[in-house]
Amino acid sequence: MFDRKTHHLGADPAGCAEAGALLRAGKLVAFPTETVYGLGADATNALAVAGIYEAKGRSRFNPLIIHVSGLDDAMKLAVFSPRAEELARHFWPGPLTLVLPSREGAAISDLALAGHSSIALRVPSHPVARAIIEASHCPIAAPSANRSGHVSPTLAEHVLEDLDGRIDAVVMGGASDVGVESTILSLLDERAVLLRPGGVTRADIASFLGYEPELVEHSSDEDAPLAPGLLKSHYAPKASLRLEAHSIREDEAALLFGTFRPQGLEKARLSFNLSSRGDLKEAAASLFSALRQLDHSGASVIAVAPIPDFGLGEALKDRLQRAAAPRS
Ligand code: TXA
Ligand code: MG
Repeated sequence: MFDRKTHHLGADPAGCAEAGALLRAGKLVAFPTETVYGLGADATNALAVAGIYEAKGRSRFNPLIIHVSGLDDAMKLAVFSPRAEELARHFWPGPLTLVLPSREGAAISDLALAGHSSIALRVPSHPVARAIIEASHCPIAAPSANRSGHVSPTLAEHVLEDLDGRIDAVVMGGASDVGVESTILSLLDERAVLLRPGGVTRADIASFLGYEPELVEHSSDEDAPLAPGLLKSHYAPKASLRLEAHSIREDEAALLFGTFRPQGLEKARLSFNLSSRGDLKEAAASLFSALRQLDHSGASVIAVAPIPDFGLGEALKDRLQRAAAPRS
């Protein structure tokens, strides 16, 4: 079933034009965005969208984020309240996904929306992503370009580790600089609700809205996820994680932040400092890479030193807590 050749496309105008044409033709193309690499398919083409789930090995149909090139195209797909429009004008293009009522008759496949009457829309800022979406002339459904349950890819090489031979092409851009997925904000109710912390901080949104959006409780109920990405074990590496580690035990790998040195660090199989200068943005940009590298060390446990709670720290800790949660 997965005997296709995965073509490597350049992140140049010719590569983007080719990626757009492939998407338009129903193919699966992974491409860089400013958050993480996405696995794109024409969102109006259910077969193409089904290919996403197949390639990722997802065991359930979760709604996918629909990527468009600007507010005009987004407005064809969803009903924007005045507040939603203001938010979009302020934060787009960029790492904020808005969940809105979908527009009656919009051509998005149900599979992409997983049967929901709402739609999650995002306008990426990455120039390569933008060029590809424009070249495709269609809305692009794109989850992160990893096998289901694996860490999200921030490099084309990560995509190939998970999906080589399972997708049609990868656009070989560089590293995704935000490094964690987009923030998902639901505007379905009167008060905005944060479904997933991410690249735009809660503080940024709060200062715009004039109030702090509530973060929904993480659901561990596989049957009723509002945002299935919030399932606690979604981002798990093979090793288990031990959070708030102040010391390192025999055979563990260590994930560090800033200048804090856990006791017994010399025992670690491998250690990775997310940002020795304590910069949360730099930490976010290398988080998934770091987890992958530490996982490859063969350690059965990754000990994670304390990480601050503020700013992008919230998104980092959210990812780590989910990776640390017991797996079913
Ligand atoms: O940064 C990102 O958002 C990346 C890049 C590729 O754009 N994409 C991404 O997609 O993270 P994915 O599929 O890995 O995560 C999408 C999340 C899921 O948790 C899904 O349940 C939620 O968005 N979602 C999608 N549509 C939704 C909807 N209508 N209501 C609530 N949650 C929704
Ligand atoms: Mg994902």
